[in-house]
Amino acid sequence: MKTILITGGAGFIGSHVVRLFVSKYPEYQLVNLDALTYAGNLENLNDVADAPNYRFEKGDITDEVFVNDLFKRYTFDGVIHLAAESHVDRSITDPFSFIRTNVFGTAILLHAAKEAWKGAMEGKRFYHVSTDEVYGSLGATGFFTEETAYDPRSPYSASKASSDHFVRAYHHTYGLPVVISNCSNNYGANHFPEKLIPLAIHNIRTNKPIPVYGKGENVRDWLWVNDHARAIDVIFHTGVNGETYNIGGHNEWTNIALIHKLCEIMDRKLNREPGTSAQLIRFVTDRAGHDLRYAIDSTKLQNELGWVPSLQFEEGLEKTVDWYLANQEWLDNVTSGAYQEYYRKQYSRD
Ligand code: NAD
Ligand code: DAU
Repeated sequence: MKTILITGGAGFIGSHVVRLFVSKYPEYQLVNLDALTYAGNLENLNDVADAPNYRFEKGDITDEVFVNDLFKRYTFDGVIHLAAESHVDRSITDPFSFIRTNVFGTAILLHAAKEAWKGAMEGKRFYHVSTDEVYGSLGATGFFTEETAYDPRSPYSASKASSDHFVRAYHHTYGLPVVISNCSNNYGANHFPEKLIPLAIHNIRTNKPIPVYGKGENVRDWLWVNDHARAIDVIFHTGVNGETYNIGGHNEWTNIALIHKLCEIMDRKLNREPGTSAQLIRFVTDRAGHDLRYAIDSTKLQNELGWVPSLQFEEGLEKTVDWYLANQEWLDNVTSGAYQEYYRKQYSRD
């Protein structure tokens, strides 16, 4: 019997991690701590909400009193920390909320774990889920490895880099048993439509312009979210304390090529004439400080822990589109209200 705290479990990646752990480990008690910000949505977890090994705790990781009390109410054996502000564009307009949650919130969790596990660290594990963006931006060639020097360039990636440093500091200074993973861009079901792929699916479906930043030449390495959740499972259970593991799909796409692929799939699924959705593409003002290219070398994870992605991108993208078309109510719910105001501000710069 293990009790595991998962933070940010109502978000995109967190909900897939919660679902995987709840179904795969009926003997574990999984506690999902989430503040339910605009990005957190309990609808993502409808299918596991009543599982006997699952509990939801609404709370903010920056609330030190609440977090300390949580660590007293439960005897956690492990923490899988995903709660974060995660959208680069929002970090450009509101950097402080990223510093609060990603840096301060992570430090509060680390400290609570250190205090709770004092004198009994054996068998415990604090797993910090991070991003490849901490490594900065690549040119046309090369890959990020675990040895690549940190070079964060947006308020989001600077806050994630800072949180990674705090995790390592708690390992070196206090002996906290930690692992870190740095993953590339995820895609899949339950992805909030402020991010490129779900935003484009939503706009194509509703016949709205598809905003492509700059010339669409920036490159991202896309990984199916379920494969990230599988990697987190493997690293949580078999990773080595103090180590970092890069996770990626070896699947690089320029944004414009990706959008054309998506348009092709959407035309087919919506019975539109080929070329119809691509007419919605609009090149808009570039993101400030837009990183050119991310690409992950995940050899260490593959060789040492035996993880490989399970799905080819084309298949994953088809599945993703199918999910959004079958869950239009989910999309309609998350794009009503505050989303409208966010969208108007973000895309009225041109
Ligand atoms: P998300 O924005 O979809 O979800 C974040 C979740 O954290 C939400 O449920 C939100 O309510 C919760 N949260 C935010 N602030 C909180 C706070 N102060 N206290 C408690 N809960 C809070 O994010 P995501 O895309 O699922 O990313 C999850 C993690 O994975 C993040 O740490 C992110 O940096 C990392 N990551 C994401 C990607 C990606 O492609 N999305 C890739 C690599 C790493
Ligand atoms: O690399 C991992 C990171 O991937 C995660 O750490 C972040 O949490 C996650 O949001 C993601 O960051 P990106 O900035 O790469 O993702 P986003 O979907 O916002 O953008 C993908 C690319 O598409 C990027 O080059 C910017 C571009 N873009 C994005 C939006 C929202 C557009 O061209 N138009 C858009 O409207």
